[in-house]
Amino acid sequence: MNRDPLIVGNWKMHKSAQEACAFITSLKPKITRTDRRIFLAVPFTALMAAVECARGSSIAIGGQNMHDHLEGAFTGEISAPMLKSCGATFVILGHSERRQYFAESNAFIQRKLVRALQEGITPILCIGEQEHERKDGHTKNVLTKQLEESFGDISAHQANQVVLAYEPVWAIGTGQTATPEIAQEIHHFIRHWLSKHFGLNCSQTISILYGGSVKPDNIASLMQQTDIDGVLVGGASLDVNSFSQLVNY
Ligand code: PGA
Repeated sequence: MNRDPLIVGNWKMHKSAQEACAFITSLKPKITRTDRRIFLAVPFTALMAAVECARGSSIAIGGQNMHDHLEGAFTGEISAPMLKSCGATFVILGHSERRQYFAESNAFIQRKLVRALQEGITPILCIGEQEHERKDGHTKNVLTKQLEESFGDISAHQANQVVLAYEPVWAIGTGQTATPEIAQEIHHFIRHWLSKHFGLNCSQTISILYGGSVKPDNIASLMQQTDIDGVLVGGASLDVNSFSQLVNY
């Protein structure tokens, strides 16, 4: 994987298939930079329409979650082959909302990660500390545990295919962004962890995104940081004007 700037929109539970298509159709002519990777994580019900509308553009479409089994009695769940059959090329795993509201554990996320890699879907693995953990000085311990348990014993070759996203939970949807310096310090810490576990080469090729209240007016200062390779954006990805400013920052 290369580390060209990667801008990921995470629509969460927003937009119908028709709205997704209208958004993408309007976004396409607004993209002026050719050196940016653009990903949109859309609701399952909008995947096929979004893939169709993004055809011929540089926009990749993906899911916001998946199950680790290939099929089975898991009511309401979606598998990696199902995502692929819709044209999805990536999937967000371990988002803090999945951990918080759906009780997803690191062990479950690890099984999903392995499955996504086996199925050739790029996983965007999310990690991040909660506000009380930061206040108590536990940020790095929490992140280390999430990294160790979510990567498990995968090889450096497999790890190379993963995109990481550092999303401090206190910054998500709150308007409270981590300062570029705080984000850089943590991204550097994560890259150091990657280098210890998977080797220097691997650590230098993995993209690490920052997420949490990224907006058109703060993206440039975040992207200037050495270890920030991209952003994962919720709220500001819902409006085509603000998302196009993000992808052209
Ligand atoms: P936000 O969400 O940009 O609205 O803070 C980020 C995310 O949850 O990925």
